Amino acid sequence: MISVNGVTLPGLAGENVVDALNRFQTELPQVCYHQQLGPIQTCDTCIVEIDGQLVRACATPVRAGQVIRTEVAAAKTAREEAYDRILGNHQLYCTVCDNNNGNCTVHNTVALIGVEHQQRPFQPKPYEIDSSNPFYRYDPDQCILCGRCVEACQNLQVNETLSINWESANPRVLWDGGKPIGDSSCVSCGHCVTVCPCNALQEKSMLHEAGMFTGIPLPMFNSAVAVIKNIEPSIGYTPILNLSEIESAGREGYIEKTKTVCTYCGVGCSFEVWTKDRHILKIEPTHGPANGVSTCVKGKFGWEYTTSQDRLTSPLIREGERFREATWAEAIDLISSKMRQVKEEHGPDALAFVISSKGSNEESYLKQKLARQVIGTNNVDNCSRYCQSPATVGLWRTVGYGGDSGTIKDIEAARLVIGVGTNTAESHPVLATRVKRAHKLHGQELIVVDLREHEMATRADLFLRPKAGSDFVWMNAVSKLILDEGRAADAFLAEWVNGIDEFRDSIKDYTLEYAVRETGLSEAQLRDLADRIVRASDRSREGGVCVLWAMGVTQQMGGSETSTAISNLLLVTGNYMRTGTGAYPLRGHNNVQGVSDFGAMPDMMPGYQKLADQDVRDKFGAAWNCEMRPERGLDNTQMIDAANAGKLKLLYLTGEEMSLTDADSNHVAEGYGKLDFFIVQDVVFSNTAAYADVVLPASPALEKDGTFTSTERRIQRLYQALEPLEGSKPDWQIYQLIAQALGADWNYTHPGEIMAEAASLTPLFAGVSYERLEGYNSQCWPVDADGTDTPLLYTEGFHFPDKKARLYPAIYAPRVQTEDSEYDLHLNSGRMLEHLHEGNMTFRTPGIAALVPDAFVEVSPELAAERGVQDGSFVRLVSPFGAIKLRALVTKRVFGNQVFVPMNAQRAEDAVNHLTGQNRDINTNTPAYKDTSVRMEVLGEVGQSPLPRTNHRYATRTPQNGVEVERKWARPDYVYPGDGLGLLEGASLNSRVDKFGAGADD
Ligand code: SF4
Ligand code: SF4
Ligand code: SF4
Ligand code: FES
Repeated sequence: MISVNGVTLPGLAGENVVDALNRFQTELPQVCYHQQLGPIQTCDTCIVEIDGQLVRACATPVRAGQVIRTEVAAAKTAREEAYDRILGNHQLYCTVCDNNNGNCTVHNTVALIGVEHQQRPFQPKPYEIDSSNPFYRYDPDQCILCGRCVEACQNLQVNETLSINWESANPRVLWDGGKPIGDSSCVSCGHCVTVCPCNALQEKSMLHEAGMFTGIPLPMFNSAVAVIKNIEPSIGYTPILNLSEIESAGREGYIEKTKTVCTYCGVGCSFEVWTKDRHILKIEPTHGPANGVSTCVKGKFGWEYTTSQDRLTSPLIREGERFREATWAEAIDLISSKMRQVKEEHGPDALAFVISSKGSNEESYLKQKLARQVIGTNNVDNCSRYCQSPATVGLWRTVGYGGDSGTIKDIEAARLVIGVGTNTAESHPVLATRVKRAHKLHGQELIVVDLREHEMATRADLFLRPKAGSDFVWMNAVSKLILDEGRAADAFLAEWVNGIDEFRDSIKDYTLEYAVRETGLSEAQLRDLADRIVRASDRSREGGVCVLWAMGVTQQMGGSETSTAISNLLLVTGNYMRTGTGAYPLRGHNNVQGVSDFGAMPDMMPGYQKLADQDVRDKFGAAWNCEMRPERGLDNTQMIDAANAGKLKLLYLTGEEMSLTDADSNHVAEGYGKLDFFIVQDVVFSNTAAYADVVLPASPALEKDGTFTSTERRIQRLYQALEPLEGSKPDWQIYQLIAQALGADWNYTHPGEIMAEAASLTPLFAGVSYERLEGYNSQCWPVDADGTDTPLLYTEGFHFPDKKARLYPAIYAPRVQTEDSEYDLHLNSGRMLEHLHEGNMTFRTPGIAALVPDAFVEVSPELAAERGVQDGSFVRLVSPFGAIKLRALVTKRVFGNQVFVPMNAQRAEDAVNHLTGQNRDINTNTPAYKDTSVRMEVLGEVGQSPLPRTNHRYATRTPQNGVEVERKWARPDYVYPGDGLGLLEGASLNSRVDKFGAGADD
């Protein structure tokens, strides 16, 4: 127990005094403190008296018996002194400030402390405003030097760009030690802007837009500020603050704040979007369950596709080589009559339905229902076919559920994280921040196994670069070594795992010698890998091993077999069933997990209920009043094959740029050409839409309600922030119109009703409901009927009838399109931080397009030297399937004869999948994109570097541990505000208390 202002209250272990005071709703200034950043200790505004000493509440751990007094005169005087220093660094012009939105810490602290007059007048700093970043600007004059931004950049985002030059006569925030923001290593994640307690760092989209008077021209603005400053000495701050609060309240009349979920990658960041009419003022992350205050550049700043002029606003119907605008009634009528006709003439399996992983769970459910109930086909799939299906199979085989074993918190808690074939910092940026933070601050070990030396590889304790496509071999060799040397988790295996003998037998040939030959890794590296895994797997200690993997593993001939091998290795070493362990196939698109979960699969109903199961068919047949068919339908890649073979006549595709993201683009285009009728539904006119007969204008995430499911299996609600753009409709409404036109009795009025129906038919989602998902609430499936969810899987056994996992004897499926004399280079492809996939959304944010304007090919320095290639050299890459012309970027991210082409391309003809071929994962048909060889023809022409010099990849970071407040305290002019204010003798107030120090005992 602790005493707070004479009242005895419970303290909690691990919390600091400021947390306890906040819990008790005791008013206390705390300008630099941010719960997700921890104590920074730069502002001194939180000084309280504890046991007779004046100390910073933010950095003092709660201890039993503490006597805390917040209102003693000495503490109040110290806080006033501290805050006066802050106001010398910040001009209070709240009424004409875009940050005057009720949540400005500097403004609110003036009111909390009751400041009437400043002792120290505002002193401008001798620096210009820096507006060189496309998305935010820094105003040094308004910067109070709290260091929140530095802490966020250094230790939460861990991009390590920011610092403060504490020793300077005029300290300020620095980017890479003093570069313009636009030339620095800043990745525009927005963490710093989000945590800034005032308007020093601000989103450009807010400037001159948020306030009632902030749009006034600069001379008038300066005059307004001068007027406020001139009257302040005579009337004090209270009336001025009152005025600004009236202005702030007035903003509530036109600023809408709507909770949504990011529509880019599978991390599942959630936040509020602030809008004024159709203008997006800003993205405000606060306490999303996956991300807290974190975002990446796409989630924070990449929303302009929603408001783009390119949005489709009318259905389009093909007339010869052109499209003409049509009414919705005409388009729906044409679609329904074509569907009826094709079904009558060729049967239901001549139609196929591709469901968008950008759409909601409810939309996935509804479109597969349209296919199965109304049309009668199981030809239903989604783009997990292009990335994650193999991982799902690997997990189904071994542990039972096809999803991440735990949440991001488990990954943070791991003692060892192994990333295989995942460029996590670029493809799952916010998840990567948690790994980088745990690695930097908490001693987490990081191993990266990949072809490219990306950011995570440069940070890793061990970076291994095996031969392309050979991960299966080193995994089995390490499993064998651990088993052979008696270092496996025997007790765990005995209690929880079946199949050890068959598994041992299946890997008997994976000797170290064989693995060395096949992978190119050395025996020492393989032994080191095994040692590190065994050390981190000690089940008597907290945490263990988490393996993260992505498309580098799955987009191979043996993607599902290698995914199985990962899970086998985790089982052998006992890395399931407890926090800080498990398997994490990182889901690519925001809802690629959810669309599969909700039935967008050719052989599964929602919740992975098998169509082959008569009971499942009976249940859905009864609910939907239809005959359910047991046959597996076509998957995405088979649909294109069937179109090429003349068997598929009608394809209805939503929100997928399939013509560029499926492998072998020329084969896909040929397939489209052979369809009788092709319907494309999207928010913009995609390259795929160019092949369509009808194009339907859809509404993106900000314009609808629904739910997404992230890589954590976390279901979260998104709320409509904007009205659907006139002429467009949410996908679920379009599906309903088509179903109704085909005679179905569908009458959904809100996506919540669709979720209720899906949950009633799906044990995995039994307790999922919109009520339980209200606001920032979320549920990780499986969800029991009473609403209990499951953030960590397998705590009471595996998802098999006997609760035991299964070691699964997997098969090695080596590469088939290996390099030869004609195609002598290995082609790798993947995402870049700034773009998602082909870039249809991200290229429509001009700031992002400026950072990465084009596709290019990364060439290693050694290959560049050998072929006479330099940055900007035009080359043609040629594979057996096609050719593309690109500019080269010489970088040591790639090695030897491996080249890398990002998936994003402004022009369709530059897209990398003109080069990829027809090889597929042997179990799931996922294209083996990574199993591609090319030759490079150097064209002799040299242009500019394809990556602008302002791109962060050229810059050098400036790592340090947070804001380094000790350097501020060491300044000759720094005096602790509590000094000389009635301290107990001998008290040492100027020492930084360990932010992770021990806490209370009760
Ligand atoms: S990387 Fe850039 S945007 Fe992100 S926190 Fe650092 S300085 Fe701010
Ligand atoms: S720019 Fe950084 S140091 Fe300055 S006020 Fe904002 S968060 Fe604090
Ligand atoms: S793209 Fe991914 S990491 Fe970035 S904000 Fe969106 S969900 Fe988060
Ligand atoms: S809140 Fe700034 S020092 Fe405690």
